[in-house]
Amino acid sequence: MGVVASAPAKVILFGEHFVVYGEPAIVLAIDKRAYAEAKFQDKKRLSLRSLNLNLAGHFEDGSFTIEQGDAKEARAKFEPIKSAVDKVLEKHGEGVGLDIQINSMVPVAAGLGSSAAVAAATTAAVAALLNVTMSKEDIFRITYESEKVVHGTPSGIDPAISTFGGTLLFQMDTGFKPIEVKTEIPLVIGDTGVERSTRTQVEKVRGLKERYPQVVEPIMSAAREVVLRAMDALKENDLKTLGELMNINHALLYGVGVSDESLEWLVNAARKSGALGAKLTGAGGGGCMVALAKNDNLQQVMEAIQRTGGSPFVARKTDEGVRVERA
Ligand code: PMV
Repeated sequence: MGVVASAPAKVILFGEHFVVYGEPAIVLAIDKRAYAEAKFQDKKRLSLRSLNLNLAGHFEDGSFTIEQGDAKEARAKFEPIKSAVDKVLEKHGEGVGLDIQINSMVPVAAGLGSSAAVAAATTAAVAALLNVTMSKEDIFRITYESEKVVHGTPSGIDPAISTFGGTLLFQMDTGFKPIEVKTEIPLVIGDTGVERSTRTQVEKVRGLKERYPQVVEPIMSAAREVVLRAMDALKENDLKTLGELMNINHALLYGVGVSDESLEWLVNAARKSGALGAKLTGAGGGGCMVALAKNDNLQQVMEAIQRTGGSPFVARKTDEGVRVERA
């Protein structure tokens, strides 16, 4: 029996993309988790298997061997995990053979932070197996390094929320501050089923920002204002304002080119069915949207998203960040 650890997915309520340039963002951890089980093995290699992606392979003496699925895809998914494992092994001091099995409940490449959740869970599982003492800050740092392998210039928002859980106000230069949210926030997430790369989406915004700095700067400062107003609305349990601000935030993201047809369908369907607000979440260009419903119309919002071709689920916030489930 190995050590099992898990970490939560997240939904960015406000501020994605602009956060990469130093603006604030609000993110919350949700009750969908990625699980990693780590065991020793006799061979001095790192074996990885993803049950949800049907991929398996191993790294040995600097080369990768595929065991199940497409080699290129497996390598792309496993490299960041390997980078996290290597960092833990550096602290351990000697080479050991490891066998890691991932089982993630988080839709992949959908804006919910699946790669960070997997990296945080794996880091915690391997550290516990090797008896390496690690603070949450250590896990955060390792997960952040692993995210850099996934996409060049991550803000760090995904590793922070997967590690610490809860609801966070995140800003690159000042770090993150937990936000106390007393009210229930009834969220419906709609997955368009369209996979996209965060790296490509981030580069798209960078391109626009370089070509039209005077146009994009005011959009960024409007996004900052949205986050500040949303902080007040959260403090005052004012869901109506929160919904309005989500709609404005979506328009700003549309403005920098990261919405797409699949997202527009779901966002509009959610609004028409009575959601207080709806926006894309994460990198956009497909992936997921999030709607703020009322407790009495969650079902209608879910059905509207489903009818429009999306896969909806209700997301509950969770305070639990990365944790060891079974040592
Ligand atoms: O779509 P995700 O889960 O990879 O979230 C990306 C969030 C961005 O703000 C677009 C990028 C970042 O590093 O903050």
